[in-house]
Amino acid sequence: MTVDDGISNPSTNRPFQDVLATNLSRRKALIGGSATAAIAFFGASTVAEAGTAPAKGGNGNGHGKGRQHGRFLDSLIGFAACPNPGGPNPTISDDYQYDIIIPWGSPLQPGGPDIDGGRPTTEAEALQQIGMGHDGMHFFPMRNRNDHGLLCINHEYGDNTTVLGKGFPEDLEDVRISQAIHGAAVVELKRHRGSWQRVRSNYNRRVTANTAVVFDGPVAGHPLLDNPAGNVPAGTVNNCANGSTPWGTYLTCEENFNGYFGATGPFTPSARQARYGLSAGGFGYGWHVFDPRWDLTNPEYVNEANRFGWIVEIDPMNPTAPPVKHTALGRFKHEGIAVTTGRGGRIVGYMGDDERFDYIYKFVSAANWRSMRARGKSPLSEGRLYVARFDDDGTGVWLELTIGNPVLAAEFADQAEVLTYARRAADLLGATPMDRPEWTSVAPNGDVYCTLTNNTARSVPDAANPLAPNPDGHIIRWRDRDQHVGTTFEWDIFLLAQDTHATADAAFGSPDGLWVDPDGRVFIQTDGGQPFGNNQMLVADPKTKEVRRIFAGVDGDEITGVAVTPDRRTMFINTQHPGNGDPTATNFPVPGAGGPQVPRDATFVITRKDGGIIGS
Ligand code: FEO
Ligand code: CA
Ligand code: CA
Repeated sequence: MTVDDGISNPSTNRPFQDVLATNLSRRKALIGGSATAAIAFFGASTVAEAGTAPAKGGNGNGHGKGRQHGRFLDSLIGFAACPNPGGPNPTISDDYQYDIIIPWGSPLQPGGPDIDGGRPTTEAEALQQIGMGHDGMHFFPMRNRNDHGLLCINHEYGDNTTVLGKGFPEDLEDVRISQAIHGAAVVELKRHRGSWQRVRSNYNRRVTANTAVVFDGPVAGHPLLDNPAGNVPAGTVNNCANGSTPWGTYLTCEENFNGYFGATGPFTPSARQARYGLSAGGFGYGWHVFDPRWDLTNPEYVNEANRFGWIVEIDPMNPTAPPVKHTALGRFKHEGIAVTTGRGGRIVGYMGDDERFDYIYKFVSAANWRSMRARGKSPLSEGRLYVARFDDDGTGVWLELTIGNPVLAAEFADQAEVLTYARRAADLLGATPMDRPEWTSVAPNGDVYCTLTNNTARSVPDAANPLAPNPDGHIIRWRDRDQHVGTTFEWDIFLLAQDTHATADAAFGSPDGLWVDPDGRVFIQTDGGQPFGNNQMLVADPKTKEVRRIFAGVDGDEITGVAVTPDRRTMFINTQHPGNGDPTATNFPVPGAGGPQVPRDATFVITRKDGGIIGS
């Protein structure tokens, strides 16, 4: 989602603003040899091999080989670079091809209603359709097959003009249609004679802003989640990026939930509400005017906003199980979560909070995930939540958000309050304000990458956010000590987007979607980089840092979401808000522009023409 509704962090956490007087990139500091701790972890890859050109030509086995300067190199990137001409149609590398599936408003089940180039006309129709705002995704294979599985997909948002054909809802039915295009979907897909098709299935389902949900973890049952109205918890909104668990479930992450709330009367947000950006007008959806649940001035729903801003678990294989909101992972504007298994079999989740000057968090489960599940406990229900402080010497500290810390006990009554107001707790601990943390991903060597999409409001650089202002963003990475469960780490800056701008095959801005594949390739998706052509997906080599474009989207869209089959020879990615809803910009997926068709978010199925691994 391109929206950036300003800055909610009034804290003055700038622990390192006096350290770097110039816009010195972390990488340059490393090459200069001034950060020995980080070099011990990253030096071999970032210094010794920097500057070697990659080889051309893939062999379909995940590596491109070629001769360079008289010796063979083993590059991870072997495909022909994709141009980025802009315009209404997508572009892909000559070595690749794509199909388009599950556009917004197409039937959830084969034979169901289709908006057919128009708009949904009733809530009942929208509930039987693929939602809008395609974002995070995961492919859950059936019996580990590469041609059959359940695709879980987020439906982040849709603006009223595109969804309703008017800027503001006129009645509750309009609001219900808008609510129904939000949330997530589970769709069973099968490849048949080379093309992927949805299957009529009991697994196919929509989760929307009105689906019944349950809470677990320290805030479940707490008065902070109760309303005088007594309404049962329902709905998930602004589902941005995603994660998945080793036990086969999908995690969908609630980002800009504040935008759906508004006020029908005089409203001044409390400090705690303001920290989450809650305001009288919201983002202009107008839900609060016709559905009191979203009205910040309605005393019957005084705590409704506390029910949003969480990480939500969906079990794709159990279509009747309600989504579960995991309060142990804290409440903030969750972009996404990268899940890995740490020392002792603990579940670890790395999470970004996407707002200017907000933070990066880590959750560590209380115990081995298998033993927790054997005891009937979700591994996401109990654990420790930390926030990151990036120190200027290339090290960092995970600060625990616990009521056991006297600094937090002085302001909060219990752990439930700490988690519900995690942003404020993180302010008090001195976390490092970042340049809009978006996706995180854990590389096969244990490095964790995070996209910091941009921050035009930064006026003072620090080591981890070295550009002020930072209009094009960067990618930071770190390595946790103690197999992801420790409280310290080493970090460096992987890439500054501005360093790609002189290279036509690599130029990008505003990195957002991110995935590091099991070979170490770094897939980067962009949101906001239109000075560099349409938004796009690129692949970076973690050692040489070469970046090469593999795909470019259509006018006005962003590229987001990444999922693969087990063999990584099929990849699913999304176009979100093509043309920003304007048919004169694009009629996607109908080719061209200027026709009557409202452009539709959709999923691309990407394959290598030679059947090789995606990215090779
Ligand atoms: Fe939904 Fe921060 O992107
Ligand atoms: Ca973004
Ligand atoms: Ca995003």
